Amino acid sequence: MDRYGVVGNPIEHSKSPQIHAAFASQTRQNMVYDAFLVPKDGFGDFAQNFFNKGGRGLNVTLPFKLQARQFADVCSGRARKAGAVNTLLIGKDNKIYGDNTDGIGMVRDICKNHQGQFRDKRVLVLGAGGAVRGVLEVLLDEKPAHLNIANRTVEKAEQLASLFADCGPVSASGYTDLDGGQFDFIINGTAASLQGALPPLAPTIMAPGAWCYDMMYTRGDTAFMSWAKAHGAAKTLDGLGMLVEQAAESFFIWRNVRPDTLPVIHMIRELLT
Ligand code: ATR
Repeated sequence: MDRYGVVGNPIEHSKSPQIHAAFASQTRQNMVYDAFLVPKDGFGDFAQNFFNKGGRGLNVTLPFKLQARQFADVCSGRARKAGAVNTLLIGKDNKIYGDNTDGIGMVRDICKNHQGQFRDKRVLVLGAGGAVRGVLEVLLDEKPAHLNIANRTVEKAEQLASLFADCGPVSASGYTDLDGGQFDFIINGTAASLQGALPPLAPTIMAPGAWCYDMMYTRGDTAFMSWAKAHGAAKTLDGLGMLVEQAAESFFIWRNVRPDTLPVIHMIRELLT
């Protein structure tokens, strides 16, 4: 059996083993997928050992995505731009390849699962950390009219805007500078959600018909989704679909088979309730 897994610290809450087990049984792949808790200073040793012993591929989650980028012999363009690797695989040439499927996961969830489209839309991204950096290139590939990155620490948003300036029309601001602007998509990539907190946002930033997407998910609505619903968003979504879609893209990279994601999204949603 081909061996795969997810590496992180912490890892016990990861849904990836259930997601990949569902994909494998649906597409009849002969594989196992385990969760590995690795010490914070032990990623390189673990990954080397995993591949030396015949492992085929790894997903990588916090805090190891940057180390995975260093570990890979060859990184895809999107992983280099994202600054992080969430998918490793060993090639026929025994080289370790690194990729990043987070951005494609989010865009597939919005565009395929929910029939959204970014072309010519005004997009606001909240936050300027690793999670946001991971999705910017794929978002800009969708050709929005404009994408603004707003962050508490404005300099970090400015750094990201200049890093991605070659990918499309992108700007940076603080939260209070947004007053007067209106957006069709607002995507929350701040870690504030994890504490049930919200960046200070004026509800007037939502254009009529605006969609609000939280890259995080919890049981029930996140704080950002509650805010969006209370102020009349046309659609509010959490990041559970993104989680399953990024997993599906990793699965495709490893197995060259595309699983059907919708039943798996429903299954994981059921596990949360
Ligand atoms: P991640 O890899 O999850 O993106 P990160 O790189 O530490 O984590 O980035 C966290 C992001 O959440 C940053 O944009 C951070 O804002 P700052 O750059 O100003 O620190 C944002 N964030 C975290 N807590 C926040 C809060 N309570 N309000 C607003 N933004 C917050």
